Amino acid sequence: MSADGNVLILGIETSCDETGASVVADGREIRSNIIASQAQLHEITGGVVPEIASREHVAKVNAVIGEALKVAGIGFSDLDAVAVANRPGLVGALLVGVSAAKAIAYAARKPLIGIHHIEAHIYANYLTQNDIQLPAVCLVASGGHSEIFLVRGHADYEILGRTRDDAAGEAFDKSARLLGIGYPGGAVIDRLAQTGNPDAIRFPRAWLAPGSLDLSFSGLKTAVRNLSRQGIDQYSIEDWAASLQAAIVDILVGKTIEAARRTGVRQVMAAGGVAANSGLSAALKSACASDGLALSIPPPILCTDNAAMIACAGSFQLAAGRTDTLALETVPSEALALPSPR
Ligand code: KG4
Ligand code: ZN
Repeated sequence: MSADGNVLILGIETSCDETGASVVADGREIRSNIIASQAQLHEITGGVVPEIASREHVAKVNAVIGEALKVAGIGFSDLDAVAVANRPGLVGALLVGVSAAKAIAYAARKPLIGIHHIEAHIYANYLTQNDIQLPAVCLVASGGHSEIFLVRGHADYEILGRTRDDAAGEAFDKSARLLGIGYPGGAVIDRLAQTGNPDAIRFPRAWLAPGSLDLSFSGLKTAVRNLSRQGIDQYSIEDWAASLQAAIVDILVGKTIEAARRTGVRQVMAAGGVAANSGLSAALKSACASDGLALSIPPPILCTDNAAMIACAGSFQLAAGRTDTLALETVPSEALALPSPR
């Protein structure tokens, strides 16, 4: 605990290709948020190579944690707990963060808290919005996940819809790869789309069966592959980007608003790397405004992988008395909730 009585949590994130450490006070106030990205390293291969990601985490994790404590102006003894992403993710990458967290928890005699990475993405909303009304609908769209959750309460979720094939982030990244415009593709497409025409190419939108809240992006990827084989130069790269982004955004926004209507909630949240997309946030803002729904989207730096969201989720778990032992395991895949029976 800090000298002024704040509960201080150290969060550690190493589930994919960002090494992150952060100190959060009272579950809301970010005292530090250090992120060492491996994006440049994985650009060479056009995707994350798990073994390279793990080695890079090993090389960086101590320095990143040290920096997070330094910026926050505290030492290990000031902490109330150490929270770490232990599931789901690349198991070798997760192991690095979990091992570091265990070492700190053991040596400094602090509680250890294992965090579900997707749950932490949802909690990023609590870092910037202090009047979130539950129940809420939360769209989580990242590089590996695309799900629409009903958030009934803390640690109480139901999956209303999920992708049947690719995640939304994968749709951005794989399309960018087919177009040869860099990695990771989401942020590049977002930037190019700003000056492109979203109606230049009419990409398919997979609405699936009437009433379904599930998502599907594999048809879009195939459409990009087929059309790009006929020549990328037939459209400007900005038009490709804007048209692609419009197709992904239409689906994500349409399904999220439908989920809110269906459940009758008044609050919508977005989370995950794709929620950093400027087209998505603009479209969600306007759709929520016309339905009179409150909307929360974290700033881009808290949408993509970071450790502040891990520390925030850890604060809520500590407050609920849920801590783990040093036997905490890393789990490569685990759903946050069960699909809705409705
Ligand atoms: O949440 P995240 O950082 O990592 C995972 O948990 O997967 O999400 C990464 C994904 C990548 O697919 C990346 O291309 C996408 O988020 N992304 C974006 C933007 N920034 C990151 N997608 C669209 N627009 C962006 N501005
Ligand atoms: Zn993530």
